[in-house]
Amino acid sequence: MKPRELGTVVGRFAAAPLGTRFHIWGRLRSFPVDEVLEALPHEGQLLSLGCGHAATEIAALLRHPELRCTGVDPDGAKLGHARRAAEGLPLTLIEGTTPPPGPFDAALIVDVLYLLTRAEEAALLTALHSALRPGARLVLKEMDTKPRTKYLWNRMQEFLSLRVFRLTRHRHGVCGLRPAADLALQLEAAGFRVLRSVSLHGGWLHPHHLLSAVRL
Ligand SMILES: C[S@@+](CC[C@H](N)C(=O)[O-])C[C@H]1O[C@@H](n2cnc3c(N)ncnc32)[C@H](O)[C@@H]1O
Repeated sequence: MKPRELGTVVGRFAAAPLGTRFHIWGRLRSFPVDEVLEALPHEGQLLSLGCGHAATEIAALLRHPELRCTGVDPDGAKLGHARRAAEGLPLTLIEGTTPPPGPFDAALIVDVLYLLTRAEEAALLTALHSALRPGARLVLKEMDTKPRTKYLWNRMQEFLSLRVFRLTRHRHGVCGLRPAADLALQLEAAGFRVLRSVSLHGGWLHPHHLLSAVRL
């Protein structure tokens, strides 16, 4: 993401505390946002699960005026900041963990599934499948378990975030990081066809992995 665009998105969070703004700035600098946004359709109704502060979604809406977005997250405090930041943009925010009834044209999930148990993940993907129209695109960004050094670095960071500082909301303290190939199988089992599975770790500290799938 170019510095000017980053500044515009973070600037929308001007009412949030400095720590929150710094977190959002760091978040947008820590993963390949451009690749994620480019994998999404540029128009239609997008559903984002686990949107958090919705900074990525706000960036998508600023880039693509024909896009509409609904974001879902259980963290009401993050959604409060997102709501203020998204003023004037077509972003609807829902506190919870369940996809609202669709049909949506596309879905986005960025670094959420590792927080869920396998049973929760299967239930979420089934509900997501129902909320998407046939042919809808699903863009999923999670962490892979390779390269090993980046995986270990990520594991340590998640341990601090989930168990020590409790920065991320989760119910079980699970840290279900697993190989991206497993996740692709899970998507196929839930009624999606994986079109693209690509490692994006090059140039980044973390083992980012992007999966792009279509809802059958
Ligand atoms: C690591 S953050 C990622 C947030 C955002 N997607 C991003 O990229 O900045 C994980 C998010 O998942 C949310 N979350 C936790 N459990 C969830 C669930 N069962 N369903 C949906 N979101 C969940 C958390 O509240 C948190 O905002």
